[in-house]
Amino acid sequence: MDRGLFITFEGIDGCGKSTQIGLLTDWLEKRKADFVLVREPGGTPVGEKIRTILLDKENDGMSPVAELLLFEAARAQIVSERIRPALCEGRYVICDRFFDSTYAYQGVARNLGTDLVNGLNRMAAGGLEPDLTFFLDISVDESFKRRRSRAIEDDRIELLGRDFQNKVRGGYLEAAKASQRIKTVDASGTPEEIFNIIKGYITERE
Ligand code: TYD
Repeated sequence: MDRGLFITFEGIDGCGKSTQIGLLTDWLEKRKADFVLVREPGGTPVGEKIRTILLDKENDGMSPVAELLLFEAARAQIVSERIRPALCEGRYVICDRFFDSTYAYQGVARNLGTDLVNGLNRMAAGGLEPDLTFFLDISVDESFKRRRSRAIEDDRIELLGRDFQNKVRGGYLEAAKASQRIKTVDASGTPEEIFNIIKGYITERE
């Protein structure tokens, strides 16, 4: 392999991404694999500042286009500052959300248009695409149950409610249908069951 493997995790809020990312990084550590873990939006000093603006509940008047461009701005920064250099050094990069989030949240759920979002995604990522994307799919009802049990305060996007999350899920299902790279994983099972599926896809791809 001339560059490291780029793996991204996607899903509606409360789908269990953090648990799966934790299991994956534990597994990579045991295998002594060299990896970096990043998240979107954020992952760089500039990106973390943009994250604060994006998730701040006080910014409820933010226009959807401003929101889209801020996500893309944070992405352009993390791709050039962290993701591309790490991949060039042959490391694995695990990213908690990447441009499929923008497709589902802004392109579909915010209805800004998938062609527009695909174009901006390509621009911000400088043509880079993940090698593997895990879309952890659960129902909106189940995700709300999990979010309630977490008892963490909702951010600006999470506050948008069930209809919005349903549209986001629809966006992911649509994206997954059109791409071999995106693996839809039923996220209603136990963490171990879900991780076994993920591990299977990774070892197949290595
Ligand atoms: P975060 O706290 O990281 O949520 P999670 O733990 O669910 O990943 O907040 C990121 C929020 O931003 C989340 O609601 C999804 C949303 N988002 C978009 O709307 N568009 C994007 O392009 C990205 C990367 C995230």
